[in-house]
Amino acid sequence: MQQLAGSIKYQEWNLDVAKMTVQEFRGRTGGVMLALHKIQETFGYVDDSAMSMLGKVFNLTRAEIHGVTSFYHDFKRSKPGTYTVKVCQAEACQAMGSEKLTTDIKAFLGVDFHETTANGEFTLEPVYCLGNCACSPNIMVDKQTYGRVSIDGFKTLADSLATSATGENV
Ligand code: FES
Repeated sequence: MQQLAGSIKYQEWNLDVAKMTVQEFRGRTGGVMLALHKIQETFGYVDDSAMSMLGKVFNLTRAEIHGVTSFYHDFKRSKPGTYTVKVCQAEACQAMGSEKLTTDIKAFLGVDFHETTANGEFTLEPVYCLGNCACSPNIMVDKQTYGRVSIDGFKTLADSLATSATGENV
């Protein structure tokens, strides 16, 4: 399995930190979207308690903020797993078996897209081209891309990630 780039982790949700984080977008065109993206980059999701806070900062109703987060599916409303696994669904990866790989990964993790495993380790998401088509099928774990992924390769990777998340030796 080919591997590219690095990985990320999120901060624990903190409303005061979130409020400070979004101040730079106050009064800017598209400020709410920028603020929501910044919150998600920082915490991995947009907590319910951010709705009222954002409403006050951007002079919008809670319902309006909620409407934005519901319309754009990129915004997660619950805490993601320790690792977010994205499986490419675009054409080149499909031609190299991503559909079967997706089915096998879903079965192995026991979740569908947009769900998190019961132990909180993995959130599964679709993605549409990771720019690594020559090495299809591709997946991304956090910000790291893996090419030519097989289900066996994924199982090994998932086991290794789960072990490192619990602090055990690989
Ligand atoms: S189609 Fe999957 S990486 Fe481009």
